[in-house]
Amino acid sequence: MAVSKKIERTISQQSWIRKMFEDGLRLKKEFGAGNVFDFSLGNPNVEPPASLKKAFLEVASDDRPGVHAYMPNAGFLATRAALADFLGREHGIPLAAEHVIMTCGAAGALNVILKTILDPGDEVLVMTPFFVEYTAYVDNHGGVCKYVRTAEDFSLDLEAIEASISERTKAVLINSPNNPTGRVYTETELRGLADILIAKGRKIGRTIHLISDEPYDKIVYDGGTVPSLLKIYRESVIANSYSKTLSIPGERIGFIAVHPQAEAVETLIGGFVMCNRMLGFVNAPAFIQRVLPKVIGSSVDAEVYERKRDLLCRGLAERGYSFVKPQGAFYLFPRTPIADDVEFVRRLQKRNILTVPGSGFGSPGHFRIAYCVEDATIVNAMKGFGEVMGECR
Ligand SMILES: Cc1ncc(COP(=O)(O)O)c(C=O)c1O
Repeated sequence: MAVSKKIERTISQQSWIRKMFEDGLRLKKEFGAGNVFDFSLGNPNVEPPASLKKAFLEVASDDRPGVHAYMPNAGFLATRAALADFLGREHGIPLAAEHVIMTCGAAGALNVILKTILDPGDEVLVMTPFFVEYTAYVDNHGGVCKYVRTAEDFSLDLEAIEASISERTKAVLINSPNNPTGRVYTETELRGLADILIAKGRKIGRTIHLISDEPYDKIVYDGGTVPSLLKIYRESVIANSYSKTLSIPGERIGFIAVHPQAEAVETLIGGFVMCNRMLGFVNAPAFIQRVLPKVIGSSVDAEVYERKRDLLCRGLAERGYSFVKPQGAFYLFPRTPIADDVEFVRRLQKRNILTVPGSGFGSPGHFRIAYCVEDATIVNAMKGFGEVMGECR
């Protein structure tokens, strides 16, 4: 066998998102791109801010020797210092450069964090529905995912979280604004969670880390904000990236921010820096690290996604779909009108509408629509959404 049994198994279970994306490419070839409504992938369709292009050009013309060389594994000091200063003001907690480690996106950050903290068999609590890759990321580093359902409105179910913590719990992983639900956790929810982690951590005699995956933190609607976890829980570690904030997922740039008063802050930082190297990332890409200090604080216009959300929600509600209105990110996670979400998604696919079954996110009976698409795609897909709803009645 050319590949390991585990990888062979995983390939055969292949991610629904990727499968839909590939089906989409095939359908677009057959029917023409304008006749396929591809809501499968969270690829931002808003162009990066103009300031980014200007910064790219400035950095590209920097011809000092050594600009393409290796650097410390944590990233350029100047970039980390600029980011620490910005985050310190944003969170209201002073951070130094050493508390920020540059990574290859949020995906890289999460893998570095998990590699650093997990012993074999350690449990990580993951809220369902969840970002599909979490299962692989936790497994990559010998951990075990323990899935905890969220409430009907996708808010945190604090009782369920409390009941799921065991002597093996090493971390709780949350994502807000959430993929796939668009839910933004409130400060009250997060404070409640922190209280549980402190009390339970004392009881089991170990620190429970709160890993906060926040790549959508600047894509929030209706004037809302994402509460600062650093202010709420000392043992929190943030994984973030510019993939969605600046619409540059292909550039692979993100960071870890660690609470300066975390109990083992120095050991954690040492671990993160070493694991960035050991996982083969070595360091986050140099070019974009030089660009970042010039555009810190810029982000794409979230109102563009907010308008798309409204367009989609209005259209689907008129056609009888039920859902929790997203507060951020660019995903909607409606209930399927029939219990079998895979069958429902197949029916949509027959109308060239590509979505992802909720089962892929650990929540059957739902489906995910990534609405980071042209307005015309949303408008023109409504006929098919309506027809499939009609079939299900
Ligand atoms: C919830 C969540 N976490 C992490 C990632 C990975 O983002 P990045 O491109 O920054 O690695 C994504 C990407 O879609 C995501 O939706």
